[in-house]
Amino acid sequence: MKHSTIHDCKIIDLRKIHDPRGNLTPIEGGADIPFLIKRIYYLYDVPSGESRGAHAHKQLYQLIIAANGSFTITLNDGKNKKAFTLNRPYQGLLIVPGIWRDLDDFSSGAVLLCLASEHYDAADYMRNYYDFLSYKNSNE
Ligand code: TYD
Repeated sequence: MKHSTIHDCKIIDLRKIHDPRGNLTPIEGGADIPFLIKRIYYLYDVPSGESRGAHAHKQLYQLIIAANGSFTITLNDGKNKKAFTLNRPYQGLLIVPGIWRDLDDFSSGAVLLCLASEHYDAADYMRNYYDFLSYKNSNE
């Protein structure tokens, strides 16, 4: 997915099962989202003004959800950028491999839930922006 673009990423509207006892959103890998889920992690207690992310992945697909609160994810494919504010627990942002992301503007109490297609692999990360640009622009 070296040639992926921000247009391959999108908001997925998840099911919301209304109930007077409280709402429920189910997510099934390969059905509600286009990958099987091997890992989940969540990010919380982010201090006001802090940023996360600042990397890209070579193979990893992710669905990012604001399980509580809100934050902004700016996607960058090396040519174009697009910012998404997530603030609804029944919407997820699909991020395909090969996309740089910056996360900021976390609200107080924000919980970022991430569903991921692969186990954690430090070797899948690109953390240097210029290396990321070289990767996107090379033709191998
Ligand atoms: P990182 O992905 O850099 O966080 P973010 O992009 O949200 O700022 O991960 C931060 C640290 O947590 C890093 O040392 C790797 C570790 N980590 C794991 O051990 N397992 C995981 O599944 C994730 C996402 C991170």
